[in-house]
Amino acid sequence: MRIEAASVNPLDWHYMRGSPYVMRFMSGLGAPKDSRLGADFAGVVEAVGKDVTTFAVGDGVFGTGKGAFGQYTTKHVDGSLAKIPPNVSFEQAAALPIAGITALQALRDHGQLQAGQRVLVNGASGGVGTFAVQLAKSLGATVTGVCSERNREMVLAIGADRVIDYRTSNYTESEEKYDLIIDMIGNHPMSANLDVLEPTGRLVIVGGKKGNWIGPLTNMLKEPFISPFVEQPVIVMLARPNGADLEELARLVETGDIEPVIDRRYSLQDVPAAIAYSEEGRARGKIIIDVR
Ligand SMILES: NC(=O)c1ccc[n+]([C@@H]2O[C@H](COP(=O)([O-])OP(=O)(O)OC[C@H]3O[C@@H](n4cnc5c(N)ncnc54)[C@H](OP(=O)(O)O)[C@@H]3O)[C@@H](O)[C@H]2O)c1
Repeated sequence: MRIEAASVNPLDWHYMRGSPYVMRFMSGLGAPKDSRLGADFAGVVEAVGKDVTTFAVGDGVFGTGKGAFGQYTTKHVDGSLAKIPPNVSFEQAAALPIAGITALQALRDHGQLQAGQRVLVNGASGGVGTFAVQLAKSLGATVTGVCSERNREMVLAIGADRVIDYRTSNYTESEEKYDLIIDMIGNHPMSANLDVLEPTGRLVIVGGKKGNWIGPLTNMLKEPFISPFVEQPVIVMLARPNGADLEELARLVETGDIEPVIDRRYSLQDVPAAIAYSEEGRARGKIIIDVR
């Protein structure tokens, strides 16, 4: 595939830095096993294997793979790959894979969100959060987004019914209860999150604190010790990219139910600056690499 656009995820710099250190068992102990960076891509099929029937040369496609921050990449047809619908741009398609699939699986599969339920999205202004807010709304939920004041208007504009400024309020200390909490940040103890969940509610942990050692994994490591003693399911999730969910996300962009929020655009030469910006943890939606 010839890549037209890619997008940055925290995964890229976790992989690049081998942090948290436990990642190095997979990514390489002393240095990355594979020096190609970038997972999310959108582009055009340039060549197919002789047995491939589902994709043809010239198809617009998007998905996850290795070396998305480059001009060409390859992918097995059965992997996380889908066609780009006609009125979805390369940039929009490149924004979708990891963040969109994470949000979709967090709400639909792990959160089992039903229309009419109340969901709180902690980290509503980031890559995953901006999709989670829109997808939760399209599933018929009442959405509370936790973000800072500077992102209030954006999070309301994409569909949140209300926002809580995390710099001035702590949602875990309020009387308000939720059917589902999707946590991208991990800045509150798990017990505090459970305090504001309905007895039938669910807590889905997507991300955690920064740090090289166990910081990002704190809540994930605690989960097996806490789960047996609490009523509500606590789910530590790992997104599973696949073609069917990519097709679903592309369809939702096509119908206008979701629209990727693009924060900044960088050229291929400026990938280091794009990754550095992602590492600051202040992205408002997605960071795009324009490979053209
Ligand atoms: N489990 C999985 O399969 C999976 C998949 C994808 C991502 N993740 C993880 O999920 C996390 C989120 O990913 P992402 O792509 O959304 O990251 P991101 O785009 O880098 O998130 C940045 C956003 O987080 C907000 N933020 C920072 N501190 C906050 C706080 N205390 N409360 C509320 N919002 C806060 C920032 O807003 P301000 O600038 O206003 O602070 C910014 O808008 C990362 O840790 C990532 O590694 C996990």
